[in-house]
Amino acid sequence: MSEDLFKRLVSHCKEYGFIYPSSEVYEGLNGVYDYGPMGVELKNNIKEYWWKAMVQMHDNIVGLDSAIFMHPKIWKASGHVDAFNDPLVDNKDSKKRFRADVLIETEIDKMLAKADKEVEKAAKRFGETFDEKMYRETNPRVMEYIQKAEATEKRLANALKLGDMADLKALIEELEITEPDTGSRNWTEVRQFNLMFSTQMSNTGDDGKLYLRPETAQGIFVNFLNVQKTTRQKIPFGIAQIGKAFRNEIVARQFIFRMREFEQMEMQYFVRPGTEMEWYAYWKEKRMAWHRAVTPAEKLRFKDHDNLAHYANAAVDVQFEFPFGFKELEGIHSRTDFDLSSHSELSGKKMQYFDPELNEHYTPYVVETSVGCDRMFLTVLSNALVDETVPDAKGEDSTRTVLRIAPALAPVKCAVLPLLRNNEELVGKAREVYDSIKLHFLCQYDEKDAVGRRYRRQDAIGTPYCVTIDHETLENGTVTIRERDSMQQERIAIADIARIVSEKVDMAKIL
Ligand code: GAP
Repeated sequence: MSEDLFKRLVSHCKEYGFIYPSSEVYEGLNGVYDYGPMGVELKNNIKEYWWKAMVQMHDNIVGLDSAIFMHPKIWKASGHVDAFNDPLVDNKDSKKRFRADVLIETEIDKMLAKADKEVEKAAKRFGETFDEKMYRETNPRVMEYIQKAEATEKRLANALKLGDMADLKALIEELEITEPDTGSRNWTEVRQFNLMFSTQMSNTGDDGKLYLRPETAQGIFVNFLNVQKTTRQKIPFGIAQIGKAFRNEIVARQFIFRMREFEQMEMQYFVRPGTEMEWYAYWKEKRMAWHRAVTPAEKLRFKDHDNLAHYANAAVDVQFEFPFGFKELEGIHSRTDFDLSSHSELSGKKMQYFDPELNEHYTPYVVETSVGCDRMFLTVLSNALVDETVPDAKGEDSTRTVLRIAPALAPVKCAVLPLLRNNEELVGKAREVYDSIKLHFLCQYDEKDAVGRRYRRQDAIGTPYCVTIDHETLENGTVTIRERDSMQQERIAIADIARIVSEKVDMAKIL
């Protein structure tokens, strides 16, 4: 999907009530969005898909809904107060803010793109005899681009690891990085910027400073013993949670990809120390299968972290090919015993597990899966939005915009349409049909405009089935049911609509 189509997606989301910019009447609030009537349905379905896959399908995973406000010491123990930073740099001329690491990464991408271009040109020149691997390994110009990219990547990773802001500034200067809009090279020093939002609560002691959680995971860690004791789970077991997280991103952009308020679906899996790599491999495979059930495999890939976070001994991203390239959709992290040990240390409360099989106490290790609900939403829509021509149709009916969303995730499952709006009998029957099936799944009743137009409206919000009530319905109790993707229609009995649609939109189809 091109950048143009991405713009189409953003405007489609607004036009059909999926997503609105927050506080729009006041010119909006950067990096914050509201989900409209269609958006909230799709988002709820995504959450249900995740919850069922994690909690319902595993008898050793249980749910939690912990508060957003937590004791401020939690963020000290987790390392977020000291280390949840991004390197910030301002351009003195344009007065715009940037993430220094992103500026450098963009430059690395440009080097690799130059190498790819050389390879592409050579492939055209040599035709079928072209050996790409050999060319990449021997052509001096291609090698130079690749080596420079690799060396820069290494230096960037090292500077980030050491928190060496001066070296990031040096890299920006050496690479002659310019401000994208103005071309200015007038940069400030690079400095660390903590991403946590803070607020004030009375009666908490100290200065009353609280943080809005930047991840839901810590609510799980501090409830580890509560949950283990009340559910009598034995290791290995998991705790799953869906909830809001907040990050004061230096640059929030690309629509709902990077927001300041967003939702995470996280699961912490507590395991015996020494077995974490087996579980890490298990969850990598499980999570990829979950994605592949609704996303083409070629649009997904794993990318190991170059730079491990302070708590991890292994980490990988599931990347999706968003309209702006392959980017992180989900993180799978082996978090060791870092979090539980840190909370034990700072709180003075032991957070250990007694393993009856080994007859010993230990601090469990943790494998985490963490997927952004909003990024999953963007993934579903990026996969689904299609503009296509309709065979054998004329005029404005000859093209359509359709959201090919998996039926189980679609916001509305079935639309009920009387053929004519000014025929009392048809309208009455359609209302009756609508009332009889709305108990089973979300339906829409629509009588405005010609039926063709109504089909297009339903296609645009991804409704998998449309049921039309016509004169034959009044005679023999049958309706036409139209399937969104094939546009095929067939006649079925009113009494069968609920069963047929329920089967097709059942979450079990993708679980
Ligand atoms: N508990 C681990 C954790 O929070 P992360 O990689 O920082 O790990 C996990 O975040 C997921 O949360 C990401 O893969 C992404 O899908 C989502 N996410 C992170 N920051 C986000 C943001 N600013 N806007 C939208 N989604 C975000």
